[in-house]
Amino acid sequence: MTQSAWSKPKIVSAFVFVLALLVAVFFFLPPTVPNDVQLSQSSEAIERGAYLVTAGGCISCHRGENDAELFIGGLALETNFGTFYAPNITPDTETGIGDWQAQDFLLALQHGRTPSGSFYFPAFPYRAYAGLSDQDVLDIGSYLMSLEPVSNSVPEAETPWWLNRWAMAGWNLMADMSQGEAEVFDDELLARGAYLARNLGHCGECHTPRNALGILDSSREYAGAQLGDEVIEAIDAAALEEWTTNNFDLFLFIGLKPDGEFAGGDMNDVIEHNTSKISDEDRDALAAFFTRQGQSE
Ligand code: HEC
Ligand code: HEC
Repeated sequence: MTQSAWSKPKIVSAFVFVLALLVAVFFFLPPTVPNDVQLSQSSEAIERGAYLVTAGGCISCHRGENDAELFIGGLALETNFGTFYAPNITPDTETGIGDWQAQDFLLALQHGRTPSGSFYFPAFPYRAYAGLSDQDVLDIGSYLMSLEPVSNSVPEAETPWWLNRWAMAGWNLMADMSQGEAEVFDDELLARGAYLARNLGHCGECHTPRNALGILDSSREYAGAQLGDEVIEAIDAAALEEWTTNNFDLFLFIGLKPDGEFAGGDMNDVIEHNTSKISDEDRDALAAFFTRQGQSE
């Protein structure tokens, strides 16, 4: 057997995940979230939520096979760890999130936990959303609950045998331990840009390299990555040396790079559903953050 399906990294991963499963037994208790929160039905909350859902890139994943079917789920996300299906996040009680409470949104988006206390797979970028403010998460909830309920059942994730939901307890713990301190900004524009990039826009989910377990290497933020066969460019300070904030703004708006090329692949989708639709101020904030040019400079 020359072409063994059991390559060395796979065996190592399997081993670590079995270990993680054992660790999971000790770390399955759900985190505490404030229990006095409510989802507002005010039009301000719903409007804010709609904006946050755009800036959060939720539609890139949570739509049907047909691009026009927003939020109904079912789109297959191929990853190095299996195929995941973004669920139906319309308020349908049978197949969607119709019976969700305010706390369920905080648990899901900030902690990757299901309403029943189980775990989501990190194909759902909850580690980026962990940094969202409670208010932003609740407004997102207000918006999603205001949508028309659509009945659509989505398949369960297809993962290798050694990868199950409870193993994610160990994975979360390891990801927490390997996470470095992110640079904090006093400058308001840079701070907003960092929030949009690291949390809402989850740019690092594609642009930051991962280790063998799929945990982001926070010491090499935005240093580029490989997703299957696709090479994802670095967008760290070194890679963007030639880019001005105007270049960056224009790229986020229409996908045009300073060298005259247009963005392709998954980035097209990010631009179409997210960065072309956010406010000029927020595009400026992202540009400022990535080129590290704040208001005071
Ligand atoms: C990169 C793709 C991706 C993005 C972007 C994404 N999600 Fe998800 N989401 C998923 C996947 C995949 C799951 C299911 C994970 C699982 O099966 O464990 C999920 C699960 C969920 C759930 C749980 C639904 C349920 O029925 O249990 C909610 C709610 C949710 N996402 C909301 C959001 C919101 C709001 C945003 C934007 C702020 C967002 N998602 C962005 C992929 C994504
Ligand atoms: C779903 C994965 C994904 C996400 C999320 C994502 N990107 Fe990208 N990005 C890509 C891919 C793939 C490319 C390469 C596109 C191409 O081939 O032209 C790219 C290219 C880029 C480039 C061009 C780099 C160069 O030198 O040509 C910039 C700048 C960029 N992305 C910024 C961002 C920002 C800012 C965010 C967050 C708001 C983001 N990306 C989120 C996948 C992603």
